[in-house]
Amino acid sequence: MNKTFVFSLVAIAGILLAVSAYTKQDFNKTIEPNIVKKDGVVMVDGKIPPQLSDLFIDQEDGPHQKYVDEKSCLKCHKQEMTIPGIGLVPKILHEFRPDCVSCHLLPSRTM
Ligand code: HEC
Ligand code: HEC
Repeated sequence: MNKTFVFSLVAIAGILLAVSAYTKQDFNKTIEPNIVKKDGVVMVDGKIPPQLSDLFIDQEDGPHQKYVDEKSCLKCHKQEMTIPGIGLVPKILHEFRPDCVSCHLLPSRTM
């Protein structure tokens, strides 16, 4: 066999390998959660988002009673922490998702 022939075989094999590795990547995969609404219940990736509980029963505008923006929610939920007199603040179980109350309904609201 002549050298040029062997070389081109190796080169073609290399190109085929690169192409197959490239196309195997799943470009259709999205980080968007899969949201399904059924019978008034929202399911996100197969899980029901917990509704907000009335954190401060004696307060009209508590942090769970009125939605301002994501930042105000994240002040408490970016990390797990303990607030004296209230208790444990759970850390968000998911990646950042905008418009928190589209899934976590305020205590006053039902679907
Ligand atoms: C002052 C801190 C604070 C802020 C601000 C706050 N939370 Fe909370 N959150 C808590 C605490 C404390 C709990 C735990 C309540 C419990 O265990 O009863 C909680 C629980 C939750 C839960 C679990 C369900 C529940 O109510 O027990 C969700 C979901 C949640 N918060 C989302 C949010 C969203 C969305 C916002 C913005 C509108 C927000 N939180 C703002 C302190 C806060
Ligand atoms: C697309 C819907 C959706 C959005 C928007 C969303 N969440 Fe969630 N969230 C969920 C679901 C579903 C769960 C329950 C996940 C599980 O059980 O694994 C959850 C869980 C949580 C929990 C944990 C509650 C617990 O009891 O441990 C917190 C805290 C929370 N979310 C806060 C937030 C905050 C703050 C925002 C806005 C920045 C937000 N979420 C936006 C769907 C959402």
